Amino acid sequence: MQDPFGHLISYLRVSITDRCNERCLYCMPQELQEWLPHNEILSYEELARIVRVAATLGVSKLRVTGGEPLTRRDVLRFFDLLSEIPTLRDLGVSTNGSLLARPVPGQDGRSMAECLRARNVRTINISLDTLDRADYARTTGRDFLPQTLAGIDAARAAGFGPDQIKLNCVLMRGRNEDQLIPLIEFAARKNVLLRFIELMPVSTTDVLSDANFLPIAEARRSIEKHYGALAPAPNFRPNGPASYYQLPDSAQRIGFIGAMTNLHFCENCNKLRLTCEGKLRPCLGSFLEFDIREPLRAGASDEELSQVFLDVVARKPKQHDFRENYQPNRKMVAIGG
Ligand code: 5AD
Ligand code: SF4
Repeated sequence: MQDPFGHLISYLRVSITDRCNERCLYCMPQELQEWLPHNEILSYEELARIVRVAATLGVSKLRVTGGEPLTRRDVLRFFDLLSEIPTLRDLGVSTNGSLLARPVPGQDGRSMAECLRARNVRTINISLDTLDRADYARTTGRDFLPQTLAGIDAARAAGFGPDQIKLNCVLMRGRNEDQLIPLIEFAARKNVLLRFIELMPVSTTDVLSDANFLPIAEARRSIEKHYGALAPAPNFRPNGPASYYQLPDSAQRIGFIGAMTNLHFCENCNKLRLTCEGKLRPCLGSFLEFDIREPLRAGASDEELSQVFLDVVARKPKQHDFRENYQPNRKMVAIGG
C-alpha cells in the first residue's frame, strides 16, 4: 500500500482496549472514565481478521496497544491468533509495564513478559516518565512504580534484548526535567533503550499546555551539559519515529521523538492505526477516521475490507496537523499512543 506521498504503509498499530489501569495526565481526562461498552469493542477474532487482511496488503509490522493492552481479559489468546499470520514479521507491544512481571494464571507460573516472548512478541515499549515514586504516582494516577520496574526486569529476564525494550519518557516541563539524567543512567544500568517524547496535544487535560511543553532540543541541551556533546546516530534505526544520538565515550544511544518541533517528523511515516472499536485512522494527528467494524459485522468479504484499507491509505495526510490544530475531546487512550 502506497499513500499519495509515496509512503509505503507496512506498519499497523492496533489498540485492543480503551481501558487502562493507570491515568496518565497527558493521556486521559482525569474525571471518571466512561469506558466503551463491550459490544462496541472488536473481539479478538474480529481484530485478527482485520490484521490478516492488512497483512495481505503488505503490513508486516504490528504493535499492540491500548489503553493498557495487558489489562484485556485473556490477552494471550489474541497473540495466539496473531501467530497464525505468517507474514507478520515484527510484533511489538506498548504497555505501561505494570503487569509484565505478574504470573499469568494457567501458565505454570510464567510471567506475562515470558508468555509474550513465547508468542513471538519481539519488542516491548514501556512508559516510564520518572523514577521518583511520588512523581510517578502523580503523573500516572497510580502508585505502580515498583510494579513497572519489576516489569522491566521481567522483560529482560524473559530474554528481550537491549534493543528490544524501549522506555518511553514523555517530556513535561516542571514535572520531569530533573529526571533526564537519572533515566539515562537507569536505562544504561538495565541495558535498554530510552526515548524522550514531546508532549502531543491529544487530550483535554491541564498538562497539555504550552507552559508544560518541553522541546526535545532543550532536553538534548541539558543532557549535553551533563555528558558533553551528543553525536547523531542516523544509521541506528530500530524502527519507529525516534532520532537517536550517541552519548560520548559510551555505547548508549538515546532516542528523541520530536513530534511537534521536528518539521520532518512525518516524512518517513509508514503507519496506520486501528482503534479498539474498529476505526481505521490514517494519522494520529488528524480527525480522519474510517469505520471498518460496520462492514466487518455486515459480512464484508476480504476484498471489501481490503478496499477500506486502500481508501484510508489514499486519504493519508502529508503530515499531522497538531501544530495548527489543537484537538480537544480526543483521548489518547482511545487511540493507542
Ligand atoms: N503526548 C506524547 N506521548 C503520549 N503518550 C500518551 N499520551 C501522550 C501524549 N499526550 C505515549 C506514552 C506511551 C505511549 C503509548 O504513548 O509515552 O508510552
Ligand atoms: Fe494508560 Fe498508557 Fe494512557 Fe498512561 S499513557 S493512561 S499507561 S494508556
